[in-house]
Amino acid sequence: MKFFVDTAEVKDIRELQDMGLIDGVTTNPSLIAKSGRNFKEVIAEICAICPGPISAEVVSLDADGMIREGRDLRKIASNVTVKVPLTLDGLKACKTLTGEGAMVNVTLCFSANQALLAAKAGATFISPFIGRLDDIHQDGTELIAEIRQIYDNYAYETEILAASIRTPLHVKQVALIGADVATCPPAVIKALAKHPLTDKGIEQFMADWKKTGQTI
Ligand code: G3P
Repeated sequence: MKFFVDTAEVKDIRELQDMGLIDGVTTNPSLIAKSGRNFKEVIAEICAICPGPISAEVVSLDADGMIREGRDLRKIASNVTVKVPLTLDGLKACKTLTGEGAMVNVTLCFSANQALLAAKAGATFISPFIGRLDDIHQDGTELIAEIRQIYDNYAYETEILAASIRTPLHVKQVALIGADVATCPPAVIKALAKHPLTDKGIEQFMADWKKTGQTI
């Protein structure tokens, strides 16, 4: 499974990229606002740090506006992935932009039928938001499983990009189901390395090593 990091914080992206832990980056208007940075400048900087797909979201709500913004965003760098919302206009923009060779991430997906339409429109990635479904007492991981089955039934090539991931458990669940990508906040990616028995084991080894009086 590929890991994308869901942030517009350049410092975090550089750190995870240097560690070899990420294959791409996703941003959205909320994350750009949180960074306090100029949208196009920060996307250009991220594209230079990570060679994988970098999602940059359009803000127009009509297809023509999305297509215009998508074309403009693609001029920033060749790894820009245009992110469009899952609306009929978004699907129309997806069809046009992928026809021009763009990578398109269709976002704000909350149902299997929406994902089916995104695949038909030629989306490169579909982003089902699992945490936001959990927030309203629905099982977000169930949606990932449904989309996996539907895409496999018809050999759709659209990649399932599990988004709105909040916990390490979400990561394990979507990996078991077979999501192609998980996009996670930096803290969730780092938390995957943590285990209390690892910490306890290190503590024990260090204490025993000290008793030997040796150095390496
Ligand atoms: O980038 C979209 C998605 O990952 C947002 O997550 O936590 O705001 O629902 P969240």
